[in-house]
Amino acid sequence: MSNGVETREFQAEARQLLQLMVHSIYSNKDVFLRELVSNASDALDKLRLESMVDKELDVDTSDLHVAIEVDKEQRTLTVRDNGIGMSRDDVVTLIGTIAKSGTAELLRKLRESQDASASQDLIGQFGVGFYATFMVADRVELVSRRAGEAGGTRWESTGEGTYTIEAVDDVPQGTSVTVHLKPEDSEDNLFDYTADWKIREIVKRYSDFIAWPIRMAVERTDAEGEATTEVQTLNSMKALWARPRSEVDEAEYQEFYKHVSHDWADPLEIIHMRGEGTFEYEALLFLPSHAPFDLFAREGRRGVQLYVKRVFIMDDCEALMPDYLRFVKGVVDAHDLSLNISREILQQDRQIRAVRRRLVKKVLSTVRTMMTEHPDRYRTFWTEFGRAVKEGLIDDTENRDTLLEITSLASTRDETELTTLAQYVERMKDGQADIYYMTGESRAMIENSPHMEAFRAKGYEVLVLTDPVDEVWIERVGEFDGRPLRSIAKGQVDLDTEEEKKTAEPEREQQRKDFESLLTWLGEQLSEQVKEVRLSSRLTTSPACIVGDAYDMTPTLEKMYRAMGQDVPSVKRILELNPTHPLVTGLRTAYEQDGDKEVLTETAELLHGMALLAEGGELSDPARFTRILADRLARTL
Ligand SMILES: Nc1ncnc2c1ncn2[C@@H]1O[C@H](COP(=O)(O)OP(=O)(O)OP(=O)(O)O)[C@@H](O)[C@H]1O
Ligand SMILES: [Mg+2]
Repeated sequence: MSNGVETREFQAEARQLLQLMVHSIYSNKDVFLRELVSNASDALDKLRLESMVDKELDVDTSDLHVAIEVDKEQRTLTVRDNGIGMSRDDVVTLIGTIAKSGTAELLRKLRESQDASASQDLIGQFGVGFYATFMVADRVELVSRRAGEAGGTRWESTGEGTYTIEAVDDVPQGTSVTVHLKPEDSEDNLFDYTADWKIREIVKRYSDFIAWPIRMAVERTDAEGEATTEVQTLNSMKALWARPRSEVDEAEYQEFYKHVSHDWADPLEIIHMRGEGTFEYEALLFLPSHAPFDLFAREGRRGVQLYVKRVFIMDDCEALMPDYLRFVKGVVDAHDLSLNISREILQQDRQIRAVRRRLVKKVLSTVRTMMTEHPDRYRTFWTEFGRAVKEGLIDDTENRDTLLEITSLASTRDETELTTLAQYVERMKDGQADIYYMTGESRAMIENSPHMEAFRAKGYEVLVLTDPVDEVWIERVGEFDGRPLRSIAKGQVDLDTEEEKKTAEPEREQQRKDFESLLTWLGEQLSEQVKEVRLSSRLTTSPACIVGDAYDMTPTLEKMYRAMGQDVPSVKRILELNPTHPLVTGLRTAYEQDGDKEVLTETAELLHGMALLAEGGELSDPARFTRILADRLARTL
């Protein structure tokens, strides 16, 4: 049964797209094989489905597979499947035309854009599909027989406006696509696609988890040195994410984790989820048990892998995970995306954003469950990744409450054990309205800083925040559970109860009077360094300390910005004096007796310098400070 060869024209839009392929605006030519394998796999899926729905369909589904064949002499590569196949009409409409909506618009934009990278972005919205073969081929042949039909169809084209179509007999069910390869030209990314290793590499990279076997006959030298051929399956087919969790055992998950993460240790937690409805996807995510060395390196790897219907699309898909969860590993398989989607397009895709939102919520709720059900694991998680997770407190306002729930912080209550904010709140003293914290470079520095004295004396717990990121999020977050987060190194502190205040007031009043002139004088002497000198209610043993106004930038933050090369104005802070300390009372007496004397000015300088040193700050003129101090000491001997 042969009706002769008919020559037909491609639909106008198809012709234009072909033009683009032939003149290869797309630099990665390897993807042609990915496209053919993906079509073959779709065809096998469709046949399996149809044979389940239509029991009458007379087809053999016992060995559904994809076969890749090469002819090195003819320089051809064939991808064959025994799937659903196409009728003559199917071939004409499916291969000869492009039915996708928006094609004309896309093509117009492509023609208008002169610049290559803009074209790449545009084409990234669009599946290149079957036509990708024309990037590597002078001529493409397709032979197909639709399952359940008797006759087959042969289609052929050089990609230049027309194709031929004819009926053929004795065609196996399914489709074979034979690509007559252009000469190799590795400078144009046109490799030798008849080489076993190249095919294997492309299949492994893009199609490893395709659920059907992808087979190829490969040459091998056997033990006797004789050349033999052997059919090998190139892909592992293990798309664990597509199987129900109940059917996957723990060991398989762990092996898969090691495969995607290149980690040697087992993961801490496995998250397997599925999204149904308008946008279908499967996600298999892992929380690793230790942080990678480059967790805080700008160039570190981040994000999960993206697949589209089991075809690998890209590594480190940052559109699917926010930066603060960059340590999460795994894959997301989205069903309804183009294989050719670009990173830029993904970032803007509304549905991808919706997926990301769900993934983030799931990761965070997993951590929350881990806190109560596996506290040990949670502790490991927090030690390894807490610093990164806290970055989320800065920008991810949508999940801020959950993030605050899963955050653990050091506190003065215990040297080693961390506390959650909720636990802190539970321990708050009667009448305590604020959550107290102090930031600084180390625990020792914070604990020994003069700011801590009154809090320690009165038994208030203070959060000890030593990560650089703490400085930033704590300002941004501002409160937990309706309770303000308050730095003990900022603003006025008053830990006295109403009762205590009443009894202490007359004494305070007296102190204010007594110290008034000294404070004014000190303020003038130190006007370069501080904006105010006042009496303190946070000191019990130190003579002085330096505090910021409630909204001032902390010195550590100032230092951080400078280290990052940003020019920030230096913030003048406030010097607070302990009115009961002998040095302070002594200074007052001396000032009242002697007035504005050089030696007193030096004492003022020393007082300020000591307060700076006590909080771990740096002196502006250490040599001068030491000289004055040495002079004073000498006089005491
Ligand atoms: N091996 C095949 N077996 C059966 N039908 C096929 C085969 N290859 C292609 N087709 C048909 O041709 C159509 C066009 O293929 P093409 O790869 O260009 O686009 P697509 O697969 O629909 O989308 P994508 O852009 O995601 O590849 C397919 O939708 C399918 O119906
Ligand atoms: Mg396709």
